Amino acid sequence: MIKKGIILAGGKGTRMSPLTKAVNKQLLPIYDKPLIFYPLSILMLAKIKDIMIIVNKGQLHQYKKIFPDGKRLGINLTFKEQNTPKGLPDAFILGEKFINNQNVALILGDNFFYGQYLSKKLQECTKLKNGAKVLLHRVTNPEKYGVAKVKKNKIFLIKEKPKKFISDLAITGLYFFDKKVVNFAKQLKPSKRNELEITDLLNKYKNNKKLSADYIGRGGAWLDTGSLEDFYKTSNFVSAIENRQGFKIACLEEIALLNKWINTKHIKEAIKFYGNCEYSNYLKKLI
Ligand code: G1P
Repeated sequence: MIKKGIILAGGKGTRMSPLTKAVNKQLLPIYDKPLIFYPLSILMLAKIKDIMIIVNKGQLHQYKKIFPDGKRLGINLTFKEQNTPKGLPDAFILGEKFINNQNVALILGDNFFYGQYLSKKLQECTKLKNGAKVLLHRVTNPEKYGVAKVKKNKIFLIKEKPKKFISDLAITGLYFFDKKVVNFAKQLKPSKRNELEITDLLNKYKNNKKLSADYIGRGGAWLDTGSLEDFYKTSNFVSAIENRQGFKIACLEEIALLNKWINTKHIKEAIKFYGNCEYSNYLKKLI
């Protein structure tokens, strides 16, 4: 059972400079909310309440402004500063104390997921006892991602950003691990680009026949917010869905309320916290 989750929201966001010169990328807007709301909502939909966000050194105060306290969302929220980005598996080394020898989920701060039955799928993934699990999604540009080659639902090959085509199944930035992950991460050596690679970590599980895969499916969306262009595409996607249906994607208070982690008193406090805005108007409709 996975009860803990880490959001990796470090990184310099250089591809999006000058936007990211003063503000962390995960605090920039995807339509009507900061990007960080989306991965946080995914952990909350997975019913994970114990959450650590890894942020760049010097940017913690920015996060404290938007998340002064996890209690108002009914979660236990902690932060960890990262001096320099050393690759995704570094999250488990930095998070060793937080993980506390338990199973853990990791979501990348710039990944966006959306889809029917997604919560159910996420909650199934958190049932993991041993090994590791990844969520795969078909893409037209696999060379930009970690990819997996699958046979009879078993992953038999994993490669980070392969130049030559091996599969169009990208490994999305949401991972579920058993407690061995901290030790495995510590054993990794930096790659040619001088980073610890998530694919090397996953390969350790794969070599022990402990890596499983699930699919988001063609009805679901996994969008990347890696570049400026992708950022705006994701914003447009959220805008189209929200304005058509009148429901918000990744309204954290709504998820917490539906999870019965908070009550109407908390929603009223949130309305005060955000002030007179469209997001608050949405919250008013929830109570
Ligand atoms: C990272 C991982 C890659 C994964 C991707 C998902 O790539 O290294 O395996 O498919 O996230 O977003 P990056 O975004 O650091 O290029």
